[in-house]
Amino acid sequence: MNPNKALWEKGDFTQIAALMRQSGEALVKSLGITPPLRVLDLGCGDGTTAVPLARLGAEVVGIDIAKNLVDAGNRRAAEAGLNQLKFQEGDACSLQGVNDHSFDLTVSIFGAMFAPKPFDVAREMVRVTKPGGRVVMGNWIPNDPTSFVSQLLKISASFTPPPPEGFISPMTWGVDAHIVERFGKAGVPPEKISMVKDTFYFGSPDRSPADLIETFRRFYGPTMNAFEAAEKSGKVEELHKQLLEMANAQSTSADGGTSIPATFLRVTVSL
Ligand SMILES: C[S@@+](CC[C@H](N)C(=O)[O-])C[C@H]1O[C@@H](n2cnc3c(N)ncnc32)[C@H](O)[C@@H]1O
Repeated sequence: MNPNKALWEKGDFTQIAALMRQSGEALVKSLGITPPLRVLDLGCGDGTTAVPLARLGAEVVGIDIAKNLVDAGNRRAAEAGLNQLKFQEGDACSLQGVNDHSFDLTVSIFGAMFAPKPFDVAREMVRVTKPGGRVVMGNWIPNDPTSFVSQLLKISASFTPPPPEGFISPMTWGVDAHIVERFGKAGVPPEKISMVKDTFYFGSPDRSPADLIETFRRFYGPTMNAFEAAEKSGKVEELHKQLLEMANAQSTSADGGTSIPATFLRVTVSL
């Protein structure tokens, strides 16, 4: 089994996505789209951005490597009566069956960054987007203490065996020079790429930071793997303590809920 697919089919990312819906909607609004237009949401999960994109009237295809998330997305689309939204399985490294220049806009919010071959991913996103269109990525930023998921993954990785040789960290998608190099190889000059820091909120008014960490522990593949490794090395308590300290320190909610502002890099590529 493809380890990239196995990681994201492990657990149930819909439980994490439930903590991200508000920012997903806000991000989509900020794209300033005017239908009719065709949008690809790559690494779409169960539709945190694909659903609001379709609600705004776009025709949306969500592509994701995880079958359970594609199924969950199609259920959400059906429940919402969004006939112009379809989810399908696919790999951002090789978008087989997707024609060149199919989309006005390709969006990938914390999605394509997790595919293992970043140069292929950049090439594919450019290939399937129309000339005159846009690619918009949201990427976590390495070594930024305010980039919540980057910190969560850093802590998780410190309890997990090292990745196989040749593994390219997804976090490299949060570094300007890598982004320019990858899109450059796909034929996009640097002046067509803009990168700004933005904020995505994780949380819920009625769930504590401890509850949030418990959700990652039970349902988020990378954190599940870290706890499995920590169990073997007898370090579960230490891992839990570090994650909880981080979530408590970053949550700005004072009323028993959780609200974690997480900095990310918003990349816009104009084609
Ligand atoms: C952190 S989740 C983000 C999901 C969604 N964009 C959201 O904001 O809720 C990462 C997503 O990328 C997907 N993914 C990881 N590697 C992928 C690949 N090679 N091709 C397509 N999707 C991939 C995962 O299955 C998962 O749904």
